Amino acid sequence: MKIIDGLKWRYATKYFNKEKKVSKEDISILKEAVNLTASSYGLQPYKVIVISDPKIRESLKEASWGQSQITDASHLFLFCNNLNVTDVDIDNYIQLRAKINNLNPEDSKEYADMMKSNIGSLPPEILSAWTARQCYIALGTLLAASSEMEIDSCPMEGFDNNKYDEILGLKEKGLSSAVLCAIGYRDDKDSFASLKKVRKSISDVFEEI
Ligand SMILES: Cc1cc2nc3c(=O)[nH]c(=O)nc-3n(C[C@H](O)[C@H](O)[C@H](O)COP(=O)(O)O)c2cc1C
Repeated sequence: MKIIDGLKWRYATKYFNKEKKVSKEDISILKEAVNLTASSYGLQPYKVIVISDPKIRESLKEASWGQSQITDASHLFLFCNNLNVTDVDIDNYIQLRAKINNLNPEDSKEYADMMKSNIGSLPPEILSAWTARQCYIALGTLLAASSEMEIDSCPMEGFDNNKYDEILGLKEKGLSSAVLCAIGYRDDKDSFASLKKVRKSISDVFEEI
């Protein structure tokens, strides 16, 4: 589908068809699309947990105000932001960048030091808010990619982050749940599918100077 057609076709799916699963191949494509997302400095300070296990999803549903997408969608993509970004993370990024582009990592020392100084000076809550913002950019890519593939989605932040972190043991991994996206195929009974898009006019949202 063309980009605008896909974005018009997609909607925040409320009821998923429980029987229809997204294929392994399509999940791989979605993962690759998410992985190609831009991130600040290119650091990708997050992990994306793809959840299909029905038992885990049952317990997550209780922590998501009972929203049916949690158990009925084919998969959940849970975007978890890093609680910390260390000098080692930055060095690892510089090494990877050097390896992929055949560069000398020493040539990027000034750049690495600048990142370390900028990121290292952030108080923990500001750092965590910044890494969470990176998750939302990745969420946008997932929404656009899935619509292009005619795979339905529901972006969701209607859940108890602390409970999610507890259920999935995220804090121990230095992570926190930021936002999630249910992926699958709409159920025929989802009347939200036929509602028209509610958006401000282009001139309300944009200003040209
Ligand atoms: C970050 C974010 C969080 C959202 N959380 C929920 C949610 O918890 N449950 C839900 O049903 N919809 C949720 N939505 C869907 C929005 O309500 C929906 O995207 C918006 O009304 C626009 O409608 P459309 O996506 O169908 O075009 C969320 C959307 C975003 C972007």
